[in-house]
Amino acid sequence: MSFPVTRMRRLRRSEPLRALVRETTLNPGDLIYPLFICPGEGVRRAVGSMPGVFNLSVDEAVREAEEAASLGIGGLLLFGLPDTKDEQATGAWDDNGIVQQGLRAIKQSSAAKELVLIADVCLCEYTSHGHCGVIVKTPEGYEVDNDPSLELLGRTAASLARAGADIVAPSDMMDGRVAAIRRALDQSGDINAPILSYASKFASAFYGPFREAADSAPQFGDRKTYQMDGANLREALREIDLDLDEGADMILMKPAMPYLDVVRAARENFDVPLGAYQVSGEYSMLQAAFEKGWLDRDRAILESLLGIRRAGADFIVTYFAKDAAKLL
Ligand code: PBG
Repeated sequence: MSFPVTRMRRLRRSEPLRALVRETTLNPGDLIYPLFICPGEGVRRAVGSMPGVFNLSVDEAVREAEEAASLGIGGLLLFGLPDTKDEQATGAWDDNGIVQQGLRAIKQSSAAKELVLIADVCLCEYTSHGHCGVIVKTPEGYEVDNDPSLELLGRTAASLARAGADIVAPSDMMDGRVAAIRRALDQSGDINAPILSYASKFASAFYGPFREAADSAPQFGDRKTYQMDGANLREALREIDLDLDEGADMILMKPAMPYLDVVRAARENFDVPLGAYQVSGEYSMLQAAFEKGWLDRDRAILESLLGIRRAGADFIVTYFAKDAAKLL
């Protein structure tokens, strides 16, 4: 039965009516807020390419965590900027590493009861060359060596779990890392630490601002031999399948906005908790438009997040978490 019997506008006539028929919800508890922890005390250093994002010393990170908790945000995703970098990414798996220190401090704060603490597991912030694994020399030049990297990733995850991470989230895209991390966690007694795998992570221009925030840009080459080709949806599903097979408890899709079809396909194919990461470039391009006055800030923030939820994400990692929580 079509017009004039059917009039779609009938259910749009007032906000209560629209609320009643709304299909997708957005709550502060669905949002995960990334923090970049750096050495020092009282440090709150602005990241140029990401207005509103800071490198925070441990004490400042605790304050930020407490604010996030009071806003009802679901959790934090922690990254670290170590004092020194080396070929073996020592800062990543050192029990006294910067994220480990941050985890212990946040765990002792009042925020700990409210927030899920997720630790990103990767080596790129800790290696002198900025790649996500160890490097070997080959006749053609240098290569990121898969299998030796697994040992370091496992060590990193176990150390982060010991320091208090509720979830470990590998973002390196080495083959076999989920199995290696599961083994390392189980061997160190953390059988209950879940793995959130960045199962399909695409080699993306949209990570640009993050590499300033985390000081993690590769010093040579790019990440295309380990992160996925942006053209490939079927391959993304295969990556997810393999990670679940290796023991991933939940999956994270990344980036979000340019890859909403991948999020939707993952939702339809896998019955596991699924998150999406609205990455640094997605954040920065919106911020740039806000600064120019070209977009309505509050509406654009919420619409960008709602779109990601509608595509099928249960939760969203976003630098807008605090802004969005205040609006909701
Ligand atoms: C580490 C990592 C990156 C991001 C999350 N974990 C950078 C990269 O892969 O180069 C990007 C997050 C963002 O852009 O907000 N491997």
